[in-house]
Formats: sequence, structure tokens, C-alpha cells
Amino acid sequence: MNYDAQLNKAKEHFAKIMVEQLERIERMKAGEDWTDYDKLKTIKIGVLGGDGIGPYISAHAKKVLEFVLAEELKSGKVHINDIEGLTIENRAAKRKAVPDDVLEEVKKYHILLKGPTTTPRKGDPWPNIESCNVALRRYLDLFANVRPVKVPREGIDWIFFRENTEGAYVLGSSGQHVTDDLAVDFTVTTTQGSERLLRLAFEYARKNKINRLTVVTKANVIKTTDGKFLSIAQEIAKEYPEVECDDWYIDIMTAKLVDPKRRTQFKVVALPNLYGDILTDEAAEFQGGVGTAGSANIGKRYAMFEAIHGSAPRMVTEGRAEYADPCSMIRAGAMLVRHIGLEDRAKKLEMALDICGSFEKKLVMTGRTTGASAGEFVRYLMDTLTDGSLERKWQSFQ
Ligand code: IPM
Ligand code: MG
Repeated sequence: MNYDAQLNKAKEHFAKIMVEQLERIERMKAGEDWTDYDKLKTIKIGVLGGDGIGPYISAHAKKVLEFVLAEELKSGKVHINDIEGLTIENRAAKRKAVPDDVLEEVKKYHILLKGPTTTPRKGDPWPNIESCNVALRRYLDLFANVRPVKVPREGIDWIFFRENTEGAYVLGSSGQHVTDDLAVDFTVTTTQGSERLLRLAFEYARKNKINRLTVVTKANVIKTTDGKFLSIAQEIAKEYPEVECDDWYIDIMTAKLVDPKRRTQFKVVALPNLYGDILTDEAAEFQGGVGTAGSANIGKRYAMFEAIHGSAPRMVTEGRAEYADPCSMIRAGAMLVRHIGLEDRAKKLEMALDICGSFEKKLVMTGRTTGASAGEFVRYLMDTLTDGSLERKWQSFQ
């Protein structure tokens, strides 16, 4: 058998994507400054509704955000606008993960609040284009995916720092069918990409006086790339003697999250992209499911806040879109409020979410028409925020 032609094609492809990666490393080395929100005259927030239940839950989250940021909206410090066009129909028509005009518009904002978007896969009625989440994270260089999970009554208080632009995702759509029988995907770890994520996680631990940071990899098997991530973590850990750094493999970590005695020992967790994707879905399940978890995609220049779940198109076709839980998006909104420096208001919104969703539960959303609708739940949430009962209720549930 002579595979020369296929091998040459594969080598050419490999060389091309490696050059792209080396260029990316140079861009990371050049660096850029963090956006200073205090110095901005106006913080521009763009809302991308997405598709499926996305536009429904985003509209609710936007309403809550407008309420929480009323003062800043009035003074002109904050601007909130919708950005159209990130729907699956438009992405499919343009055959682009993020259509050019949408990306151009997105880049005019400092911060994005993004609803879930449908990610096509082989066999779907849609063309098999790349996930727009993944593309946006890459285009805007949102290198840290920060996902908190809390279950106070069980002593769970985790925050995951998922590397967001590398690993198995960086070339997710650049894998190759070398021959009909041989398919290859790539995973990439860079010094600069790992360092910036790990430093953010260690800094978070230091700032919040958290004495443990757990690094999760599969460095015993994925020796080169995961091995690199782990050894960089161990190097950086030396600069943070007050933070104990332990390392776990993803398989046993996944198991230990279900062990009630062991799981409370985890606090800050830093991990490569794919493990972070999987582990944070599992983690969110303890809190009440992926519908309850928000997430922040942080870069130096831009930041994007979103739910951690998908677009649930079936809820729309079955007429249940108004019953989709908007809490994930509202939690993402609270993270956004904290990110622009309004810690107090973020905390209050999170307290109200905990009271309504976990403690008091005067209204319960089930995702079905038998439960509360998102509109009813948001009214309940806003009442809890404004009727003067927040602190008292919070204390009584502690
Ligand atoms: C997430 C999602 C995405 C991911 C999908 C939609 C591509 O699962 O944000 O965790 O895998 O990152
Ligand atoms: Mg996921």
C-alpha cells in the first residue's frame, strides 16, 4: 500500500495548524492589558439571545440585569443592547460558527451576556459547523471559564477554572481523516495558555484566602500536554506557599465528587478544557442541575457570561419555552455584575437566587407547565430583592 499522497496532505495540514498555534503563542507573549471598567466612560454590554430556549431565558436575565444596574443605566455608566444574528438559522445559512457581521458587532462591546446556542453535530438537519461558544471563546481570547458551584447545606463550595481556549477544543474542527480508516484530532497545551489560566486561579485563591487549589489532569496517560499543564501548575504553586496545591487525575476526581466525605475538601479547581467541560456538568448536578449554574468566560479585553447548558430546542417545539429555568443566565448575570466591580449587588442577587431557588421555594420551576413559569419566578425573585426581607430571610436560612 502506498499512502504517500494522504500522508503528504496530512503533513501539510499539520504544518499549517502548527504555524497558526505558534502565531497564537506570539500574540499571547505580546499580551494586552486588562480592561479597566472604572476608567471606561460607558461599559457596553451586549446581549446575544442565542436559539432554542436562549432568547426566552436571556430576556429574563436581561430584565433582572437592567433592574440591578438601574442606577448605572440612568447615569450612562452602563449601556445594554441586544445583538442580533447568533441564531442557528443564520449561522447555518452563512455556514459560519459566528457570521462575520455578528462578530464585528460583538467586538464593539466590552461584555457579553450570551444565551445558549445550538451546537450542530453530524446527522443534525444543520450543517456540521463549529460550536459558536467555542469560536467566540477563541476569537475573543476568553481563556478562563470560571464556574462556581455551591450547595451550602452540604458544605460544597467549589469554583472551577477551566482552561477555555486550548486542549482538545483549540483545533476541535481541524482534525483530519487521513484515510477513510484513520481519523485524527489534536489537543494542544502551551506554556503561555496554561500559565495565564493557572495564575488567575492561584490569584483567586490568594485573594479570597482559600488554602487549597486542586489541579486535575490525566497526566499519567496524556503525558505530553497534560504533563505540561501539571508541571506548570506545580512551578507556579511555589509562588503561592499559602495555597496547598494537590493534583488529581480526572477519573478519580469524577468519582470523588460523588463521595460526600471527600468532595467538601475541594475548593478551587484548575483544569484543561475538556475535563473542565465534563467535571463542571457533574458538579452543577449537585446544585440542582446545569440549569442552575452560570459561568464566566474571562479574557483580558472581553468577558462573556453564559449558562453552562445547551439550547433545549425540544422545550420550544413542545411549547414549554416559558417554563425553561432562567436561573443559570441570571447567575451568569450576577457574575457579570461582580466582574464590573459591583460586588455588593452581585451578592444580593445571588442571595435572592438562593432564597427563591433553594431555601424558601415559594414557587418551584419544573421545566413543565405544571411548575412555575420563568416570568412568575422572576417576579418572585425581584420581589425578594426589593421587599426588604432579603437579609432577614437569608439569616433565617443559614
Ligand atoms: C459548555 C458547553 C460547550 C462546551 C458546548 C456547547 C460546545 O458544553 O459551555 O460547557 O463544550 O464547552
Ligand atoms: Mg459543557
